[in-house]
Amino acid sequence: MGAANELLARVKAQGAIPRHVAIIMDGNGRWARERMLPRPVGHREGMKSVREVVEAALEAGLEVLSLFAFSQENWQRPALEVSALMSLLEEYIAKEARELDEQGVRVVFLGDLDRLGPAQRRAVDGVMAQTAHNAKLVLNLFISYGSRAELVRAARLLAEDVAAGKLSPAQVDERALSERLFTAGCPDPDLLIRTSGEMRISNFLLWQLAYTELYISPVLWPDFGRAELYKAILDFQSRDRRFGRVSA
Ligand code: FPP
Repeated sequence: MGAANELLARVKAQGAIPRHVAIIMDGNGRWARERMLPRPVGHREGMKSVREVVEAALEAGLEVLSLFAFSQENWQRPALEVSALMSLLEEYIAKEARELDEQGVRVVFLGDLDRLGPAQRRAVDGVMAQTAHNAKLVLNLFISYGSRAELVRAARLLAEDVAAGKLSPAQVDERALSERLFTAGCPDPDLLIRTSGEMRISNFLLWQLAYTELYISPVLWPDFGRAELYKAILDFQSRDRRFGRVSA
């Protein structure tokens, strides 16, 4: 705790808090395997890290925190693991919704939500409605999400609008496409963190990450907490972001 508070003080002293941090939460399985425990135990432990990182984001003053919780590809994991993850999702909402609401967090779920079971869908819709008026922090939780599918969906929506005469082909530009992504209206991430040392984007936010700074942490997700988030932000604050231009 002490070390994390010290890091937070340094983050604040440096200024330039990123508006939007996105995280690929990876390594739950390895965390469990190292302890000879079943994989779902790693996911449960990972849920505690979600809680810590949300607290840390509130303290640091981020506007948006995006977490990749379940990919489209994850549906192909063994049925037992998928159902454990779906139960955790429901449990997370049941346990955290009230506190998130009180803290001023707007919870948004993004992805192909039609693939969720009826109970999960109700829980997801419920917490989104309950927290829709909050403005302190947007917590984007990506579930059943794949970035290519999101882009294909946006392309289809554009094609439908063109076919219906609502949009001319010349009006199809970056803005028109951005507005048809799940993340419409949300600033692009300033910083992407991936845990457990993997150097991959794994079909996450391919469009939105165009100018995002990347930070790979060797720490497995269940061991990632406040201090780790602040270390990543401190590293981000030392970068020279040029967006393709030259330094000032
Ligand atoms: C990656 O670890 C993690 C996931 C696929 C699931 C992430 C879920 C949580 C952190 C808990 C639930 C969160 C919410 C918001 C309800 P992995 O299984 O790919 O790990 P490995 O690469 O070591 O096998």
